[in-house]
Amino acid sequence: SERVPLVIGNWKTNKKVAEVYDFLQEIQGKLPDPKKVEVGIAAQDIYLHEMVKRSKELDIPVSVFAENVHWADEGSYTGETSPAALADIDVSGSIVGHYERRKMFKETNGSVGLKVTATLRNGLVPIVAIAEDATHYNPDDEDMAPLTEIAVGLAGVDKAKAENIVIAYEPAWAIGASEAPSLEIIEHAGKVIRKSLAILFTQEVADKIRIQYGGSATPENSKEILGLEDIDGLLIGRASLEPAAFLSMVNDAI
Ligand code: G3H
Repeated sequence: SERVPLVIGNWKTNKKVAEVYDFLQEIQGKLPDPKKVEVGIAAQDIYLHEMVKRSKELDIPVSVFAENVHWADEGSYTGETSPAALADIDVSGSIVGHYERRKMFKETNGSVGLKVTATLRNGLVPIVAIAEDATHYNPDDEDMAPLTEIAVGLAGVDKAKAENIVIAYEPAWAIGASEAPSLEIIEHAGKVIRKSLAILFTQEVADKIRIQYGGSATPENSKEILGLEDIDGLLIGRASLEPAAFLSMVNDAI
């Protein structure tokens, strides 16, 4: 496909500042040509500004992402980070609606929708995480209804900006688990997601949107997963914390 793969490490609530610097130094000069694979790291907000500055200084072709973002550009929302502030320090985008946020911090498709619109309005890339219960998996159901998380979460998105969205398919039961789902399940989910996007936007837009897989992705299974037709990248949790594992998975996307 013409879609450039996008591999993002999601560090979640990990790493101290010295470890952040070490990691960047470790990957310096080792990332592929961004025309072939785009690479990103999502980290805690307190590190983002420094990460952007260091990767520019060290000439590392890595995009920096937030793990969550607020829907308002400014105002009285104690403790929230605004999309305008992220854009101001050259952060590339934000994960929106990660399963851990939906589960532990009560995020809904409604708030996800507001956040997606807010990121796009600020020129940021939303990585919209979809954790639809994969027990719905039914390979015979070609006309599967659009996924609720897409239909509701993305309903308000301007069609003209929709191609900048990235979808991360992360089945709840595979996050932080010991094994990823079968390739058959991942490929089927990719197809259903793209079909849902085509219903919501257009086929042309759906064909441009990148769909990542996330959930127990490792250097052992990354190549096969990245080889699937509708999967255009990975959202990597634990395996992204070690530079060597992360680099190996990034290179599998070439
Ligand atoms: O955002 C990343 C996912 O939640 C996957 O985490 O690779 O540690 O299973 P994991």
